[in-house]
Amino acid sequence: MKPTNLTINGARLWDSLMELAKIGATAKGGVCRLTLTDLDKEARDLFASWCKAAGATVTVDRMGNMFARREGRDPKRPPIMTGSHIDTQPTGGKFDGAYGVMAGLEVLRTLHETGIETEAPIEVAVWTNEEGARFAPAMMGSAVFAGIFEENEIKAKTDRDGIAFGDALAKIGYDGPMPCGGRKVGAFFECHIEQGPILEADRKAIGVVTGGQAQRWYEINLTGQETHAGTTPMERRHDALLGAARIIDTVNRIGVARMPYARATCGVIEAKPQSRNTVPGRVFLTVEFRHPDEAILKLMDEALRAEAARIAGEIGLALDIQEIWHFPATPFDAACIGAVRDAARTRGYAHRDIISGAGHDALYMARVAPTAMIFVPCADGISHNEIEAAKPDDLAAGCQVLLDAMLRRANAPA
Ligand code: GLV
Ligand code: MN
Ligand code: MN
Repeated sequence: MKPTNLTINGARLWDSLMELAKIGATAKGGVCRLTLTDLDKEARDLFASWCKAAGATVTVDRMGNMFARREGRDPKRPPIMTGSHIDTQPTGGKFDGAYGVMAGLEVLRTLHETGIETEAPIEVAVWTNEEGARFAPAMMGSAVFAGIFEENEIKAKTDRDGIAFGDALAKIGYDGPMPCGGRKVGAFFECHIEQGPILEADRKAIGVVTGGQAQRWYEINLTGQETHAGTTPMERRHDALLGAARIIDTVNRIGVARMPYARATCGVIEAKPQSRNTVPGRVFLTVEFRHPDEAILKLMDEALRAEAARIAGEIGLALDIQEIWHFPATPFDAACIGAVRDAARTRGYAHRDIISGAGHDALYMARVAPTAMIFVPCADGISHNEIEAAKPDDLAAGCQVLLDAMLRRANAPA
């Protein structure tokens, strides 16, 4: 790749990340900015104002996805797009998602201040509900954009308080007029912290992401019988929480049996009726499995179903197990991966190939556009935690690679 002199401003990128992190800041130094809340709206408004100041136009689609566009010399060419999300986990950090959006903003600002024109337009996207913490599944905005789910199906999904996605979107005023998706994207690049320990341990500033692993998400409802905790002998109980406890242990064993690549997690448990002296009669439990190999993920699925049925049978519980999301293993585009690798090499950044353990909007965008991602290390590989941390120099390096890769695609012959 031809070296370019255009350099992003790492200090400005860092300052924007810190400014954004004030919205929903937690006492422990993290961020709690759940999707489609007033805090999400505040962060979106700030992003829009920054983009407009950098000469971009901002539009919003019917899923609340935002697009900041800088016109190209040829406006008919499909945009070269970047972006990520600004919603967070309940115990989120300052960088998950926010980095990818602020890196895109930094690209816009760099182009704006230098007056550099690109052949293809440049767009920076903010995807709605990437996290899947409030509404499941994850990556809803990019999924509808990529035609994986129907807009109305997603808008009807409710959070654990029964609030519909569509109503929450309208309440914050981000149910935009543009149709979601159905337009061509020339290429999509996403910057993200790795959220795992590999780059830090290997002392690499840049991860050239070659694809993402497969996931299956489940919701389990166990129904037993609420009875008196003092009078019901142990052998007469149908304790739904006991069933859940055994399933949670089983889920962990399913993962441990397939180390080092398998991931197995129960993240939400709700027992009812939440009284200390009533045997719990109903439990809602979530399970998620991940693995780079679909065939092994299938074996994990089969083990869960067989073991949960056995446990429910032993305790006398009704078992309802629904797979609510199956996300296939996704390879990225060879040319986009190459553009990222070349940019890292040309700039002299230590880099290596890596597979994403986390879900990302780029994995849905890969279905409709040539796509790749750029990872940078985070401290101790910890993410979805308020202590999540990344180094300014690494964040700047990832953003520089993003700019270089985007420019290469945006100025390539049509
Ligand atoms: C996204 O945050 C994920 O859970 O991978
Ligand atoms: Mn993320
Ligand atoms: Mn996340």
